[in-house]
Amino acid sequence: MTEILSAIQKSAIRIKKAIDVKDIGYSQEQNSSGETQLQLDIQCDLIIEEELSHVFSVHTLASEEKEDALLVNKEGKYLIGFDPLDGSSLVDVNLSVGSIFGIYSGSFSGKNLIASCYVVYGPRVELVFAYEGKVKLYLLQSGEFEYVKELRLEEKGKINAPGGTQQNWEPYHKTMVDGLFQEGYRLRYSGGMVPDLHQILLKGGGLFSYPCTSDKPEGKLRQVFEVFPFAFIFELAGGGAIDGKENLLLQTPKHVHDTSPCFFGSNYEIERVKSTYASV
Ligand code: AHG
Ligand code: MN
Ligand code: MN
Repeated sequence: MTEILSAIQKSAIRIKKAIDVKDIGYSQEQNSSGETQLQLDIQCDLIIEEELSHVFSVHTLASEEKEDALLVNKEGKYLIGFDPLDGSSLVDVNLSVGSIFGIYSGSFSGKNLIASCYVVYGPRVELVFAYEGKVKLYLLQSGEFEYVKELRLEEKGKINAPGGTQQNWEPYHKTMVDGLFQEGYRLRYSGGMVPDLHQILLKGGGLFSYPCTSDKPEGKLRQVFEVFPFAFIFELAGGGAIDGKENLLLQTPKHVHDTSPCFFGSNYEIERVKSTYASV
């Protein structure tokens, strides 16, 4: 696992450089979710593939930007699912973006996650690594990731980060979101799940939601590359991660690019989601 973390750190340093200088034009290609890829999405994907495919313990790599998983070493024991550049459409407006990694054993299923990691490229580059019961924060300083602290969620937060197109929300979902605002929650939503979830973790709690909507009945966020890695982190940090009713980590995707509605937060808010969705 040390080698994997070190390869992720090297990728992050290279990606940060690519974000800083690269022209961010669109490519001619679409990814498996039908989104037009930026040249930067493709470049970040290649950087991560290069770094992780050299690690002996890595068996398979699956990327949001590639249709099929790639076998890199038959003797390796870990499968890594990654989103090379989450929120890439925010680069041109200079908002924070991120990379997300889920490290699985056996197959890409929620219960098989062994570790997960994300990197935030913001005013500072930070990395969060969840493994062996702990969620640890690191800060990039002078070319090295230095340990900062362990992250733990409070029982209840103050932030509400409601994703998806509001026009297409189910009425019960809107009632729940409005209810949190009426309790004093504040809107904090950038449109990048990495910085939005990072904010909730660092501020101690709150709720991030990307629900099922009339235009996206299975949500938008992808289980293997986005949803499971964050579910693992939120559970280890003392919060919860559900699809509305059940824990996200109980899900097994049929296909590596499958999506799921998702809710991440501290316990109080996750209970609110469960009581809202229990009857639907
Ligand atoms: P990506 O850039 O990897 O395609 O993912 C963007 C994701 C996520 O970061 C964010 O929460 C969500 O898409 C926002 O989606 P909408 O634009 O539909 O709100
Ligand atoms: Mn993404
Ligand atoms: Mn992406």
